Amino acid sequence: MSVFEASHIYSLPRVYVNTCPGADTSLVLRLKGSEEKPRCEGKPDRPKSFRKGSLTVTPVLHHSSASGKRCTYFGAQVNGVDWSQAVSEDVVAQLKELQDEYAVLIFRKTGLDNSRHVAFSRQLGQDLEINPFFYGRENDRIGDPFLWDVSNINRDGSIVQPDSRRWHHSLGNALWHTDSSYHQERSKYSLLLSHGTPVRGGSWTHFADTRQAYQDLPQHVKDQLEDLVVEHDLWHSRRLGSPTTFKEPLPHERAAKPPAYHRLVQQAPGQGRKTLYIAAHAKLIVGWSYEDSQELIWRLIEWCTQPKYVFSMEWLDGGDMVWWDNRQSMHRANPYTTSMTARDVRRATIIDDGPSAWGVTEEEIAAAKHKAEQLGLLRWDSPLV
Ligand code: OGA
Ligand code: MN
Repeated sequence: MSVFEASHIYSLPRVYVNTCPGADTSLVLRLKGSEEKPRCEGKPDRPKSFRKGSLTVTPVLHHSSASGKRCTYFGAQVNGVDWSQAVSEDVVAQLKELQDEYAVLIFRKTGLDNSRHVAFSRQLGQDLEINPFFYGRENDRIGDPFLWDVSNINRDGSIVQPDSRRWHHSLGNALWHTDSSYHQERSKYSLLLSHGTPVRGGSWTHFADTRQAYQDLPQHVKDQLEDLVVEHDLWHSRRLGSPTTFKEPLPHERAAKPPAYHRLVQQAPGQGRKTLYIAAHAKLIVGWSYEDSQELIWRLIEWCTQPKYVFSMEWLDGGDMVWWDNRQSMHRANPYTTSMTARDVRRATIIDDGPSAWGVTEEEIAAAKHKAEQLGLLRWDSPLV
């Protein structure tokens, strides 16, 4: 049934160059004052920056709708939060509103430390994810159960070595993903905070708007995607990032992270726009073969990560922080390189409390499998991208 041989799966363009700015620097946003450049067609219907209470908001990307109705936005830099003390509930409510609409919020030079990073994160949801490496299995440099060490630094201060399992584990983060889609109880927000001096030569994180990408799909494709369920597996993205080292996860790794099942098409928070919930962790469309699943999943990831849906954020100073919503965006890191300098970024991850937090039930999986088998493969009239 498959139109693709398994060997083609690895040849899809899922490894990205470790440079940003890329060849076309006009496509790159440092998000640094006047250096911002508009990326989308048409005029935005909001000023370049505007006030919301005590906050100043500078949107990053906008899209004008075909019908000429109001623009949609993705990403915003927010100034005016007083990080020197606990953030007031009023400001938290305003920030959440912004987050629902923009999906990625960037803050500069917050001056937050570990405990205030965690304290602010706790204001955004009831539970934080516990760092799986905290109990001594791997690097435990930070010493806080609620902070993930996303740095390239070992406990003794040395830079992570190319032959280490941690190095290979990190390579999967350079593939487009959402955090924790491989958990049955998924997470909604991630807050990544930089400590110390940024990397020499630039340090970037890239973001893609999965809502706008969904909106722009042809209707007949949307119809065929509507009821699909996806199996997400952390070890799948680790294998794509590092096919030899992560050919098979170690038994304790597999036991710690079994696969999880979520709907492909979901409703984003806030205005309830539809969005694609997809990531490099996505391994199977329930009811389809591995090859056919990967074919669709990577076509969709490529669709979502066309330059018009993507901006890249440069980490400029210690204290910079980015807060994204995993339910309505994808992101990726730059991969480790042998010439990299220390990059100390730490992440708090907030467990979802929305209606799709727990993905789909066993019964829904069985029903989706049945339906997908009956409908058969999704056929594209022409390549999407
Ligand atoms: C993460 C992540 C990107 C980066 O923390 O989840 O993907 O640039 N980070 O480190
Ligand atoms: Mn991530």
